[in-house]
Amino acid sequence: MAEQLQQLILDTLDTQSTLPDSRALKIPGQSSPASSHDAQITILGALNSLLSREAMNMQMITYETHEVSSHVLTPEGVQIVREGSHEARVWAALPERGSAPLSAQDLKRAVGDEAAKVGQGRAFKSGWIAKEGNGFVKAVSNITDTTQTELRELESSGTLVAGEKALAELRKRKLIIQRKGQWFTVHKGANFSTSIAKPETDLTVDMLTSGSWKKSTFKKYNFDADGIPTSGGALHPILKVREEIRSIFLEMGFEEMPTGTFVESGFWCFDALFVPQLHPARELQDTFYLSDPSTSLPPPSDYYERVARVHEHGGYDSIGYRTPWSHEESHKLLLRTHTTASSAAMLYKLAAKCRGENIDGDLSAKSQPGAANLSDDGFRPAKLFSIDRVFRNETMDATHLAEFHQVEGVVADRNLTLADLIGFMRTFFRKMGMKNLRFKPAYNPYTEPSLEIFAWHPLLEKWVEIGNSGMFRPEMLAPMGFPPDVRVHGWGIGLERPTMIRYGVNNIRTLVGHKTSIENVENSPAVMF
Ligand code: PHE
Repeated sequence: MAEQLQQLILDTLDTQSTLPDSRALKIPGQSSPASSHDAQITILGALNSLLSREAMNMQMITYETHEVSSHVLTPEGVQIVREGSHEARVWAALPERGSAPLSAQDLKRAVGDEAAKVGQGRAFKSGWIAKEGNGFVKAVSNITDTTQTELRELESSGTLVAGEKALAELRKRKLIIQRKGQWFTVHKGANFSTSIAKPETDLTVDMLTSGSWKKSTFKKYNFDADGIPTSGGALHPILKVREEIRSIFLEMGFEEMPTGTFVESGFWCFDALFVPQLHPARELQDTFYLSDPSTSLPPPSDYYERVARVHEHGGYDSIGYRTPWSHEESHKLLLRTHTTASSAAMLYKLAAKCRGENIDGDLSAKSQPGAANLSDDGFRPAKLFSIDRVFRNETMDATHLAEFHQVEGVVADRNLTLADLIGFMRTFFRKMGMKNLRFKPAYNPYTEPSLEIFAWHPLLEKWVEIGNSGMFRPEMLAPMGFPPDVRVHGWGIGLERPTMIRYGVNNIRTLVGHKTSIENVENSPAVMF
């Protein structure tokens, strides 16, 4: 179509030398001349295409633009063209003078509420109708419906012979609206020709070697054209929720722990946390072990000795597990099953000053600069968090994968109590939008007491388990070197479950893995807790 129209313009110019008024053109495939606004837009497109086919700065055509204002009918205007003006319809519905008058209600019934209301007033003003008794009759035996005639004229020609005053009146009555339009006068250009050689868009090696570029017409660059939309990066919903949770931690004064160590040793993942070496969670069906390399570098030897001793023989008021210590079990490399492995490493570092060591990048000094917290034993309080990936040898189903994200918060201070832990969790989860919490006693090898965290789910209308928490055991903290009055509490939740709830996803595999839709990721909104 576009090519045909361009050809038509060129052929017309060829025979007439100018095209004085583009509204006279008949667009191929359309029956009437191109008087409409849309038709002129199509013609403008064709003219600009022809204009871009210049060669050596010489154009095929030139054109001038003329501005016009035209009028189009509103839906009410269209209705009047079809059925007559409201006042004419009122007049037509009424009986002749002398017959029984029509009541106001019957008039409404005959022409509709709107027409009766507007039409009555106008018909009275023009002297077309009269009041008689409780009703109305015709006052004249025939009328001229000027409104309808004018609108009809406008609809077919786009203007009114009656002139601007009549147009203004129709505009005021909202029967027509003004529209600005354009039409064009087209002339032959210096490079006029009736054949549209498809212009080249690129200069190729072939053109250069054959020399054909000399005779080619090149399409002009359009520097105003919109570029191809680039697809920007988008955060995955899990990362958006991670960002929200991270900002809650940061506003509560927590510091993020480094958690890059996906591969850990049995020592840091379990032994340091006082998880017995025979604990079922350490078995092959629950934990992924590495085969190459399969063993870790040795942990700090003094600390290692203390941990081994508390497991095997007890100490710090504990009787220990009284099972033989396996060096091999402790050195096995594995994919960490919880981020508490990183927390253990950080706590060990936090206790360095208490052990009398002076290590670089002292974390405790950064987290709590208050002088009041300083004491001779070198301990300083800390609030730490992490959000990262963990791995478990799970049977995968709609809500479980073999890898997921854990959110973990750890607080170390003197004389902390279970009430501090509960209070902290209430504050934290309220910021996440979970106002209703319950805690249930639970068991963790590394915490005592331990609490499972339940939140009221307003949509499911039930309590759902969201995480696990507790006060870290002295058997874990004392070998690290913490003074006895230092308590550490911590808690962990999954990141996937809150994300699934927030985005209304009920199968984890639509969120993670090869079935994830990139489009969904790009379109998923930010979340706010
Ligand atoms: N590591 C625990 C889990 O995997 C969470 C937790 C962290 C519990 C810290 C207590 C203290 O569920």
